[in-house]
Amino acid sequence: MTAKRILLGISGGIAAYKGAEVLRALQKRGHEVQVVMTQNATEFVSPLTFAALSHREALVEEFDCPGDPIPHITLGQGCDLFLIAPATANVIGKMAAGIADDLLTSTFIACTAPVMVSPAMNVHMYENAAVQENLETLRRRGVQVIDAASGYQACGDVGAGRFPEPEAIAEAVEEFFARSASAGCLAGKRVLITAGPTVEPIDAVRFISNYSSGKMGYALAAEALARGAEVTLVSGPVALEAPAGAQLVSVKTAREMLAACEERFGDANIFIASAAVADFRPEDPIDRKIKKGSADEGRLKEIRFVENPDILATMGAAKAPGQVVVGFAAETDNVIEYGQGKLASKQADLIVANQVGGGKGFGTDDNQAALITASGVRSLPLMPKSQLASEILDEIEKF
Ligand code: CTP
Repeated sequence: MTAKRILLGISGGIAAYKGAEVLRALQKRGHEVQVVMTQNATEFVSPLTFAALSHREALVEEFDCPGDPIPHITLGQGCDLFLIAPATANVIGKMAAGIADDLLTSTFIACTAPVMVSPAMNVHMYENAAVQENLETLRRRGVQVIDAASGYQACGDVGAGRFPEPEAIAEAVEEFFARSASAGCLAGKRVLITAGPTVEPIDAVRFISNYSSGKMGYALAAEALARGAEVTLVSGPVALEAPAGAQLVSVKTAREMLAACEERFGDANIFIASAAVADFRPEDPIDRKIKKGSADEGRLKEIRFVENPDILATMGAAKAPGQVVVGFAAETDNVIEYGQGKLASKQADLIVANQVGGGKGFGTDDNQAALITASGVRSLPLMPKSQLASEILDEIEKF
């Protein structure tokens, strides 16, 4: 990894002292670090500490910068990454609201480089709705948010909001730079992704479906977009916002999902089936509500099912040379063996096999998976779905 220029923002919480270790961890990886601090941060650690470690003045004052009348512009445009670690609730709130009343927050507003924040605060502050909404606002605007750690806190409380280990923050920075380096490597490629559950009607008000949240498919869409691909997301009903730039095709049933995919598969370079498609649908749904005690009541007590089309297998069979087809295998047991079976039976190039059940898989933010191809199995540790999306696309790029 080539050395980067990192602007390290330190805001005023007890974790400010750990900022010095973050600085060291970044330097150890060869990066150049310039520190900017809030006035409150100087109550916890002296700017001299950061100056001594970084060999350059740690800047605090907006109007008293020797030799630079507009430091917020110079700083915000002269770095490869602005990392604010620790970021207090106050600084996060100001960033979300666009308030620029000191050097650190003015620099954020003027910053043309990517920005990453590592929140650190008391558990009740971290869980406060305003703080969570502000973090969500920042995420939506493209700021990278490092999730706070959980555990024993300086104030004696226990819970989420702890500052992660400085090494973990430096690693998140490395991963970010690695991801940025891979940005654009799918430029010109069209990626078609199925996501979420399908819902299969029983009558006008009832349906059967499954617990799929769509998080994995949406994470894949975001990652493919970040790598420069043109992304079409064929999604069942989920409570997620499609990533900006993705073409969203909303569907309900498996048959609608299949039709949407068949229409677009010919143009796609990569097809990823991450949807949890209902394997069966009620044979004969009716378009009015079945009333209890009516002549139709029996149709609720005993629903007859017919098999849905297998979308992945259909695309696998239609695959042309050069197209890459990827599927998932959600299993409660014999994960690898069943995954290998699906690789062959669905004519996929890659199967992402993961264990579900017992709280794993559906609806969670993390996933543990194995990447199965004809040439072998690569087991991955438990990781956030966003990171797994990156691993999957790395694997796809090998084809
Ligand atoms: N899939 C699909 N269409 C279906 C069923 C599954 O496209 N009708 C896709 C899923 O999106 C996933 C893969 O096939 O990529 C495997 O799905 P999974 O539910 O694990 O397996 P099934 O094929 O349904 O087999 P089984 O239920 O027997 O495990």
